[in-house]
Amino acid sequence: MEEGHQPVLAEEVLTVLAPASGSLQIDATVGGGGHTERILEATNPDGRLLGLDADGAAIARVARRLGRFGDRVALRQANFRDLETVAPAAGFPAVDGLLFDLGLSSFQLADAERGFSFRTEGRLDMRFDPSRGVPAADLLATLDTADLTALFRRYGEEPFAPRIARAIVAARGVAPIETADQLAALIERVAPAPPRGRRRVHPATRVFQALRIAVNAELEALEAGLAAAVYLLRPGGRLVVLSYHSLEDRIVKRFIAAERKGCICPPELPVCVCGRNPRLRPIGKPITPAPAEVTSNPRSRSARLRAAERLAA
Ligand SMILES: C[S@@+](CC[C@H](N)C(=O)[O-])C[C@H]1O[C@@H](n2cnc3c(N)ncnc32)[C@H](O)[C@@H]1O
Repeated sequence: MEEGHQPVLAEEVLTVLAPASGSLQIDATVGGGGHTERILEATNPDGRLLGLDADGAAIARVARRLGRFGDRVALRQANFRDLETVAPAAGFPAVDGLLFDLGLSSFQLADAERGFSFRTEGRLDMRFDPSRGVPAADLLATLDTADLTALFRRYGEEPFAPRIARAIVAARGVAPIETADQLAALIERVAPAPPRGRRRVHPATRVFQALRIAVNAELEALEAGLAAAVYLLRPGGRLVVLSYHSLEDRIVKRFIAAERKGCICPPELPVCVCGRNPRLRPIGKPITPAPAEVTSNPRSRSARLRAAERLAA
């Protein structure tokens, strides 16, 4: 087992990405570097890889881990929403494979200072790149009840969103909510426990997911990253995406379906006038981890892999 973060569906990622010697690859979310390392090994002796992460700490850690690959690997602290400009600037204008392993890493979850986990006393920050944007604690301090409710519904699909939002606004009138465990305790007080027999998830799980998605504008970044992937992939190149909740997976599924269809003309038009050709071919069905992987790596539980091949259009 690798220290800190086990790469999810590692074998399956390699099978569908099919990275060959001499190819150019992008890992848009290096995290702990687990997938990155495997892709570099599979592209021995002369494949090259560009690795991105919004989190500077991840880039520094992976630079140490992958030092032995020398100039076969280039690492950049960048958001993958900017891939279309970052990749050509780094010498990767067209590539054979592109991987997105979405969400957060075990390193981030375990870092009490970042506030990602409701089991820590860390300040509620939740930014992948702490030098940009607004920490989660600021959203909790400033949004009104209606906006908090909308945020928890939209990004967390939280059934008790209004109740939790009202409790936050009432509580912050007494003292600011600044740490992860404070917020988790408040939600535990106001949100009913899950019905008996259902898998036990902490009642704060959906609210924490919603705040993280909002703070990092994750869904907008995913849309932009996927569009950039189609632009950067060579014909025959492979796109592989690992998502961890239905909001992400829906975006990936719809994106691949739209690029498979190509034409965006309204259905009532008798002939195509947009002239857009299909640009992606889905590869196989979505893949989920086998029970043995879920047992050894519970973080993989909700993973879903989708893959597609770039067509020549
Ligand atoms: C699930 S982890 C990746 C784990 C990695 N595949 C491994 O094997 O160790 C996701 C990583 O993506 C990064 N990330 C999330 N959204 C990002 C974005 N929009 N741009 C760049 N990096 C992002 C996070 O900072 C985190 O380090």
